[in-house]
Amino acid sequence: MIFTTAGEKGGSGRSTIAEHFTVWLSKQGFDVLLIDADEQGTASDFTAWREQTLDGNVGYTLVQLVGANLRKQVETMKSKYDHIVIDTGGRDTTSQRAALFASDVAIIPIQPRSHDIWTLAKFTEILEEIQATRATPLIAYTFLNRADITSADNRESAEALSAIEQMTFIDCPVKNRKAYPNSGSAGLTVFEMGEKADLKAINEITELFKRISHVNINVTA
Ligand SMILES: Nc1ncnc2c1ncn2[C@@H]1O[C@H](COP(=O)(O)OP(=O)(O)OP(=O)(O)O)[C@@H](O)[C@H]1O
Ligand SMILES: [Mg+2]
Repeated sequence: MIFTTAGEKGGSGRSTIAEHFTVWLSKQGFDVLLIDADEQGTASDFTAWREQTLDGNVGYTLVQLVGANLRKQVETMKSKYDHIVIDTGGRDTTSQRAALFASDVAIIPIQPRSHDIWTLAKFTEILEEIQATRATPLIAYTFLNRADITSADNRESAEALSAIEQMTFIDCPVKNRKAYPNSGSAGLTVFEMGEKADLKAINEITELFKRISHVNINVTA
């Protein structure tokens, strides 16, 4: 399957989710290609730190690909991997559209109570344009990232997201936890922090990933 983290708003957590999903899939034995389709190079930087921390054993293959050609290149590479995860930048770019055209699933993280929810109307239009040109529909999932620790505080945002017809809202919030920046700065994920593991963070994101991938496999810290 080909998964793309997308959305129009900067800093919503696309790269964090793409990196975590890649590592989560690879820990289940899948051969995964992570495509950095953002010129900022966040996923590439993460992978470079990861190479240092893990002595080169990052657990997946990384390539940087941007521009309209991305769609064709993904087509030629897809038979070589079990799954492809594409991280895109937070704008309506040629790269993001090309990635969405090439994908089976779009993963759209949304921060609660932010302008992200209200700017989704524009992204919905982009999705509709893409859907109109596809032979099979693109599955588009939204979920709350950096959600409030108290569940009740996320309710209004969750209701707003579940009302959007063009995207399927997954009610598995990934809460705002320091485990993300703490692990990311070493090129690691919350799954790889050993004794310092934040089990709540692991459980939340695992629930989300099971829903996205429709698999039911336990990932241990
Ligand atoms: N659930 C979370 N809890 C706490 N911090 C988070 C969470 N998700 C992401 N972050 C932090 O938020 C910041 C932005 O995340 P990230 O880079 O993944 O967003 P992005 O959407 O890829 O941004 P960009 O627009 O730059 O591509 C990072 O410092 C990351 O560690
Ligand atoms: Mg990013």
